[in-house]
Amino acid sequence: MKNAKLSLVLILLVSMVGISNCSNLSVDANEKTVAQTNKAKQFLKQNCLACHSETARESERLAPPFFAIRKHYLKDFPEKGDFEAAMLAFLQEPKEANAKMKGAIDKFGLMPKMTFPEKDLKLAIAYLYENDQAKPEHAGKGSKSQQEGQVDEAAILKKGESIALQTKKVLGKNLMAAIAEGGSAYAVDFCNLKAINLTDSMGEKLNARVKRVSDKNRNSNNAASLEELTFINKFKDRLAQKETPSGELIKMADGYRVFYPIITNQMCLQCHGEKGSEIANETLEKIQAKYPADLAFGYKMNELRGIWVVDFQAD
Ligand code: HEC
Ligand code: HEC
Repeated sequence: MKNAKLSLVLILLVSMVGISNCSNLSVDANEKTVAQTNKAKQFLKQNCLACHSETARESERLAPPFFAIRKHYLKDFPEKGDFEAAMLAFLQEPKEANAKMKGAIDKFGLMPKMTFPEKDLKLAIAYLYENDQAKPEHAGKGSKSQQEGQVDEAAILKKGESIALQTKKVLGKNLMAAIAEGGSAYAVDFCNLKAINLTDSMGEKLNARVKRVSDKNRNSNNAASLEELTFINKFKDRLAQKETPSGELIKMADGYRVFYPIITNQMCLQCHGEKGSEIANETLEKIQAKYPADLAFGYKMNELRGIWVVDFQAD
């Protein structure tokens, strides 16, 4: 009798241990999925959203938002395996024959080729298949008005940021086209001859003065002033705290000045990354010939490369 009771207790105990082991297993599986989801999100944020931003306004976009890409791919490839294979083929070799969105190529130019580990790409693609992406907000709606007085400042900051982002868009689009046409060594000529001109003429078009400066500048004309260095350090601090820095506004005697962070992505490293590995020798030779005092290398992804400085009037 006593023995029977004991063995019942034992059986219960063993099965409880069994059950708790089982549930531990599924917790592990859940944690793994969460970790993978976070990794995919982080990867997309660091490598893709600079161009595929969901929140950028229409006029500031460099590429279609992921919500539109996902919809397009799902229509052509409802099966997970087909969806993943088609997208991977494009990302490993972005060319017109692999592209499903010909309209996007006409509008934005072909996506430049970047090299990523295949396993990261697969994780990101699986995430895109499984998760509905945020639809971009409607352009130009503006935030609901807050307190009087405050509203103005927010609107003025937005205007300055928008000038910076539109200039970034034009520069980015032309840079992508140059890389697609002749690779990064060829595109150095584009940056060398066109970057400052394009920035100036965008400023003219938008009725503002626009420049790009850096604490580690390539072109000596782009060296940051003391005031600019203060904002550069401020943005760096925020990045170090894992915040995404946004623009800063100051009032000038005759208008406003907005500072806006310029953050590196994978594409930048072929000209601003490690010499010899990320920057190909042919590209490096071109850079050194044109910029003997170059400081703008050794960057990693998601670092502060410099800032936009925009001087403008409120209206
Ligand atoms: C430097 C800007 C830029 C970056 C960074 C970028 N893309 Fe793109 N991407 C584009 C442009 C421009 C297009 C639209 C033209 C085209 O289809 O090539 C595009 C198109 C696409 C398409 C649709 C292709 C088609 O037509 O079938 C996919 C999918 C895509 N990108 C995924 C990604 C992923 C994933 C990343 C990050 C690993 C990424 N992109 C990073 C610029 C970029
Ligand atoms: C094809 C090579 C190339 C690529 C890719 C490239 N840059 Fe540059 N970058 C240059 C050159 C060359 C200059 C100097 C331009 C000039 O003379 O005005 C420069 C200048 C700059 C400047 C101005 C400050 C300075 O150092 O003179 C910033 C900011 C900058 N690049 C950011 C970026 C970012 C961010 C990316 C990625 C989105 C990027 N660059 C990608 C070649 C490149």
